[in-house]
Amino acid sequence: MFDEWNNVAEAWNKNMKDGDWFQRNIIYPEILRLLVNTDKKKIIDVGCGNGHLSRFLTIHGAQMLGVDNSQQMLKCCKAYNSDIKYEQLDITDDTFPYEDCFDVAIFNNSMQDMEKYTNGLSNAYRILKKNGHLLIVVKHPCFHGRSDECGWRVTTEDGDTFTTGHGLTELEKNKSNYTADFFLINDYLNKSEHTREWYGLKTTSYARTLQDYINTVIQAGFTIKSISEPSPIPEGQAENPSLYELLTRIPNFIFIYSEKKQ
Ligand SMILES: C[S@@+](CC[C@H](N)C(=O)[O-])C[C@H]1O[C@@H](n2cnc3c(N)ncnc32)[C@H](O)[C@@H]1O
Repeated sequence: MFDEWNNVAEAWNKNMKDGDWFQRNIIYPEILRLLVNTDKKKIIDVGCGNGHLSRFLTIHGAQMLGVDNSQQMLKCCKAYNSDIKYEQLDITDDTFPYEDCFDVAIFNNSMQDMEKYTNGLSNAYRILKKNGHLLIVVKHPCFHGRSDECGWRVTTEDGDTFTTGHGLTELEKNKSNYTADFFLINDYLNKSEHTREWYGLKTTSYARTLQDYINTVIQAGFTIKSISEPSPIPEGQAENPSLYELLTRIPNFIFIYSEKKQ
């Protein structure tokens, strides 16, 4: 599976840079709202990709460690020339290093790509300090098209219609006007492995339900503090009005914020 991320790394980095529309208008503001104060906090960015979140939180005073199992993704991180520490590690590995040392662990859109996500959660519990926080951001499982026939039913300015399938990357790039009346879901309980396509390259993801995520976080020992389904901030409207309109109706992401109580 990690070969897939190595293959996609360059294109991913070119698109993501220092945070795409989703990160800047939905994910970063919600992370800052939940964490309240990141100054001098030791934060691990699990499945850090090209490191955009680590760079963002460093600006907000955090001491970041970015980990990713893809060597090529880490190469992209290091090309940004920051002082941030990055390590090539698999969070689901039984020998994952570190113990009781982070204030916060963030899985930003990486958990859905881990087959052994329960191992990842046990390791997250182990590496956090007492009263440390776990923040999981995933595509909202209830509004996640698991096949090409699912997702937003979009009508373009020219009257063409299509469904968005697994992701909204294409809509982010498409700045023209479009509308969407429905979000189609037909197989929420189908938990199979599926393929996502990024810029013509494929990666594997694991469809899970809301109860899978919530119960697994609880079983790993965490106490859930909040669940949030944020809309984009108003600043996102000018850059991409059509996408903004859709995502003020149905959330694209869910945030599960929890604490290691002991
Ligand atoms: C969808 S990308 C998200 C990257 C980044 N967090 C972002 O928001 O742009 C998923 C990332 O998780 C990494 N990943 C997947 N499974 C992993 C694992 N078991 N341990 C560490 N990283 C993993 C992949 O290599 C990839 O970079």
